[in-house]
Amino acid sequence: MNAARSRDATLGLPRVHLRRTDSTNDRARELAIAGAPHGTLVTAAGQSAGRGRQGRRWSASSGSALLMSLVLRSPPPLLPLIAALAVCDVAGADARIKWPNDVVRIHGEQLAKLAGILTEGRPQEGWAVVGIGLNVAVRIDELPGELHATAATLGREPAAIEPILAQLLDGFARRLLEPSAATLDAWRERDALLGRAVRWRDGAGRADGIDGAGRLVVALAGGGRATIDAGEIHLERVG
Ligand code: BTN
Repeated sequence: MNAARSRDATLGLPRVHLRRTDSTNDRARELAIAGAPHGTLVTAAGQSAGRGRQGRRWSASSGSALLMSLVLRSPPPLLPLIAALAVCDVAGADARIKWPNDVVRIHGEQLAKLAGILTEGRPQEGWAVVGIGLNVAVRIDELPGELHATAATLGREPAAIEPILAQLLDGFARRLLEPSAATLDAWRERDALLGRAVRWRDGAGRADGIDGAGRLVVALAGGGRATIDAGEIHLERVG
């Protein structure tokens, strides 16, 4: 194991835990910019301005979700995929990944979201922050009605948040040490979009897995294939 990789063996130290903050990702970014070491963790019981991908908000009532942000130095290129796998490892055998890194359960045609992941960083400075919100003890019937069909929860008690965090950090550290081929294989086994109709700003087709760089491959309706780097994929309803 080389020096850069062996650092990954411990994640979660030092740790800052906050009863409430605006966004754990914002706190972790500040720490990263100030030179915090690899593995630094920020957790919170509640957030007043939790952020999601594409400028969206992330809400969870206080004490009901695992809210964490991890500072990683020299992050690997497949980091978003690795993070999603690490979450799946604690979320159970039925957890799947909606490309690139939403962790979901499949209910018929519906994908219900268990966890969201927001990866941010400054590649030129060699750091990334991985923010994870995992619905550990969220009660779906307490969420706004419009989320009932699209949100999922582990359905555990709030006391489970801390042990799940410990398990997640261990698993994440192990996943960071895996060769890329193993990451890609494991990710493909959890692929929630495979074979599903998808559309995005520039086209539509059927999801056909990911390539070696973690990009989504789509078999186009009119023939041919497209490879999508990042951005938003909307599931089309079937029927
Ligand atoms: C998404 O699904 O769009 C990503 C959601 C990420 C939410 C987590 S909660 C902890 C961390 N702090 C934030 O402000 N966002 C992430």
